[in-house]
Amino acid sequence: MRGGGVDSLRLDLTSIRRIKDAPKISCIKRIEQAMDHAFWHQKWEENNIPFHEGRVNAQLLKNFHRLSLNRGDRVFVPLCGKTTDLDWLVAQGCHVVGIELNQSAVEEVFARMGAQPEISTSGDHRHYKSETIELFVGDVFGLSADMLGPVDAVYDRAALVALPAPMRASYAEHLTAVTQAAPQLLITFEYEQAQMKGPPFSVTGAEIRKLYGDRYRPERVSSVAITGSLAERCSGTENAWLLEPI
Ligand SMILES: C[S@@+](CC[C@H](N)C(=O)[O-])C[C@H]1O[C@@H](n2cnc3c(N)ncnc32)[C@H](O)[C@@H]1O
Repeated sequence: MRGGGVDSLRLDLTSIRRIKDAPKISCIKRIEQAMDHAFWHQKWEENNIPFHEGRVNAQLLKNFHRLSLNRGDRVFVPLCGKTTDLDWLVAQGCHVVGIELNQSAVEEVFARMGAQPEISTSGDHRHYKSETIELFVGDVFGLSADMLGPVDAVYDRAALVALPAPMRASYAEHLTAVTQAAPQLLITFEYEQAQMKGPPFSVTGAEIRKLYGDRYRPERVSSVAITGSLAERCSGTENAWLLEPI
């Protein structure tokens, strides 16, 4: 998945995984998780973060109203990076809750906002909290519904598409569970996967319906051509989906 050496190791792990040995499987899963975390931390360390738009996502601007939120409603932003979408959501009157693996990205958000967060520890996660925004540093898969608190809407931009296919199924299930199937604005990319290796991965409408269709009614509400540095690697669309719970 993540380049030469890691790819071959992942292949080996996939074959090993077929051996139905429960303790080994959980050990392998931990190794895979650690590799995945290392991949993202390295990207942050090298400042190799082309996914960071540096401006508010155009399809968030266009479709935010569809979530029909009220002032003070809680919006969960999984795998949030340091996106300025966070600042914009706060400016709309939302209480924003995010989670991100990388601590420096989280600290940068608070510094940018000029906010002094209270910092506490919750299990394996650090929790940075100010009046209008709270961000967890840690693995989204370790976040419980209790830690997260009530959620009125989810804004997923480049989170689902950041994960390889086997993780996407676990992610969708986990996200649905911890948010009690809160409505979602989901921004994805769709392109011919043979054009490049992800992330970001191509996620089709059929996959979204497969992942979320039993709890949500997915509707594609807007679509634009892929632009920016990603357009140098592939051609396709960036799609906004509204997921209304059934
Ligand atoms: C493609 S980036 C998208 C960031 C942000 N949503 C944006 O639009 O700029 C994916 C982010 O997810 C973070 N990440 C990856 N795996 C994660 C995990 N298991 N738990 C929490 N964050 C994770 C990475 O560090 C990275 O910042």
